[in-house]
Amino acid sequence: MSESEQVKVRERLLAQALQGEIPTHVAVIMDGNGRWAEARGLPRSQGHHQGIKSVREAVIGSVELGIRYLTLYAFSEENWLRPASEVAALMDVLVTYAASEEEELHERGVRVTAFGDLDRISPEARSAVEVLEAATRGGEALRVNLAISYGSRSEIARAAQRLVVEALAGRLSPEDVDVDRFARELYMADVPDPDLLIRTSGERRLSNFLLWQIAYAELFVTPVLWPDFDRTHLFEAIRDYQRRERRYGRVEA
Ligand code: IPE
Ligand code: IPE
Ligand code: MG
Repeated sequence: MSESEQVKVRERLLAQALQGEIPTHVAVIMDGNGRWAEARGLPRSQGHHQGIKSVREAVIGSVELGIRYLTLYAFSEENWLRPASEVAALMDVLVTYAASEEEELHERGVRVTAFGDLDRISPEARSAVEVLEAATRGGEALRVNLAISYGSRSEIARAAQRLVVEALAGRLSPEDVDVDRFARELYMADVPDPDLLIRTSGERRLSNFLLWQIAYAELFVTPVLWPDFDRTHLFEAIRDYQRRERRYGRVEA
C-alpha cells in the first residue's frame, strides 16, 4: 500500500471509531521489541529505542480519539532480572523518550505521570521522568501513565501494608476496608479502571500488569510487534472494542 493509501485507511478508521463509544482509559502492554530487533539481526536495545516511535503514535492516536487516559507498561518488576546491559538500555530509552518528546507532549496538552517502584530506577531515568512530569503537569487533553518498575502483586501487597499501618495507628477499622477503600491505596487511585487492555506481539498473558484494575477490561491481543505498532493499529483495536458487549456479569432485563 502506498503512503497516501495508508493515510486514507487510517483516516477512515479514525472517522468510524469517532462515531462509536470511545473508551475512557486504554492500557497497553508494549511487547515484542526484542523479537523485532532479532528478526533484523539487530541488538535488542535497538528494538527498545524503535519503540519510542510507537509510543508517539499511540499518544497521538489517543489524542485524536479523545481517550482520556493511556497507561503504558514500560518496565516490569520482573524485567529487573534481564541482563544488566539490557536494563541499562531500557533506562536509556526512558531518558531519551523524556528528552525528545517533552516539547511535543506539552504542546499537545498531554500530561505524563509515572508509577511503580521508582526508587529502583537509575538516577538519570528518575530525574528525566520527574522533569517530564513537571513539564507536562498542566496537560488536559490526555493523561499518559507510565508503569515503570511496576508489578501488580507488589502494588496490591503495598496497598494492604498501607491499610495495616492506618489500622494500627487507630485511623481505620477493619469494616472500613472494602473495594473502594482498598483501591484508594493503589498507584492510580485517581484514575478510572482501564476499559481496554491491548497487548502486542501475540502473547496472551498479563505479565503482572494491573491485575486488580482490569477486572472488567476488554482484552485485545495483536500479533503486531511493538516497534511496528502505529495509530492505525490503535484505531483497529478501538473498532474491535466497539463491537463488544460489556455485560459485567448481568443479563438484559
Ligand atoms: C517489550 O519488549 C519491552 C519490555 C518488556 C521492557 P521485549 O523486550 O519483551 O521484547 P520480546 O518480548 O523479547 O520480543
Ligand atoms: C511485559 O512484557 C512487560 C512490559 C511490556 C514492560 P515481558 O516481555 O516482560 O513479559 P513476559 O516475560 O513475556 O511475560
Ligand atoms: Mg516481551
